Amino acid sequence: MASPPNPAVPSISLNDGNSVPAIGLGVWQTPAGDTERAVSAALDAGYRHVDTAAAYGNETEVGLALAGAASSGITRDDVFVVTKLWNSEQGYDKTLRAFDESLDKLGVDYLDLYLVHWPMPMVNAYVDTFRAFAHLRERGRVRSIGVSNFESEHLKILIDETGIVPAVNQIELHPLLPQAELRELHATLGIATEAWSPLGQGSLLEQATVVGIAEAHGKTPAQVLIRWHVQLGNIVIPKSVNPARIASNFDVFDFELSEQDMTSIASLEDGTRLGPDPRTFNFTG
Ligand code: A2P
Repeated sequence: MASPPNPAVPSISLNDGNSVPAIGLGVWQTPAGDTERAVSAALDAGYRHVDTAAAYGNETEVGLALAGAASSGITRDDVFVVTKLWNSEQGYDKTLRAFDESLDKLGVDYLDLYLVHWPMPMVNAYVDTFRAFAHLRERGRVRSIGVSNFESEHLKILIDETGIVPAVNQIELHPLLPQAELRELHATLGIATEAWSPLGQGSLLEQATVVGIAEAHGKTPAQVLIRWHVQLGNIVIPKSVNPARIASNFDVFDFELSEQDMTSIASLEDGTRLGPDPRTFNFTG
C-alpha cells in the first residue's frame, strides 16, 4: 500500500497561485527500463511530484507508473507532473506539437508544470516558445509554465517580451554551485528556484564536511544535502533508481541543520558546473 503524502513536505507557492511539493523524484539519467519501477517506488514512499523531460526518453514509463498508481488510490490530480520541451522543438508551432507528444507519452490530459529545457540564446526562439506555453496555459492544458537553465539576461528578455514571469527556473544547483545571485534575482522577481543535480550527481556524497554533518545528525549524506536545499527554500528533485535510497531521500523531516551546518556546507562552493553552460549550450540532438 502506498504511503500517504507526507504533510511535513513543504509546499512551495508559485507566482500563479499554484503550489508544488518541495521534493520530487528526478528521472534524468534514469534508463527507460528502470523508470516505471523508480517512479512507483517514489509514489509508494509518499512522493507526489515527478520531474521528467522529453529528452530523457522515459516519459512513457513515467506515465505507466502514474497509471499503475491508480490501483493504490493515487489519482492523476494527486501528483505534480513536470516535463520539459526539448531544444530542437523551440518555436511557437513546434512547441504546440511537442507538448501534445509529451502528454500522449505521459498518458495525462494536462500537465502541472511545463519548462523550456534550455534557453539556446543563439537560436533566439525562447520568447516565441514561451508564448506557446502561455497559450497552452490559457487553454488549461498546463497549470504552470516555467523555464530551466535560464541566466539573468534570458529571464530579463523573456519577461520584457512576454510580460509573463515564469513560475519556476530549474537550474544546476548544489553546494559547489549554490547560485546565490540567481536565487536572489528569483526572489526579487517571484520565481521559484528549483535545483537539478542537487546531490552534485552523487559527487558530494563522500565529501568529508557533508559526511561529518551526516554522522552528527545520524542521517545519510544524501539526506543532509536534500535538507540543505529544503532549508534554502529550493524545490529539489534528487534522482535515484534504488527504492531504498528513493525512500530515504524523502525522510528529511525529522532533523534540522544548524546555521553552522548551513555555513559549513556553503563553504564548499568552488563554482564547479557539472552540466553545460546555459550561455553556450546549443545541443539539439
Ligand atoms: P542511484 O540512482 O544508483 O541511487 P543528482 O540527483 O544530484 O543527479 O544525484 C544522483 C546520483 O546520486 C545518482 O548517481 C544516484 O545513484 C545517487 N544517489 C541518489 N540518492 C542516493 C543516496 N541516498 N545514496 C547514495 N547515492 C544516491
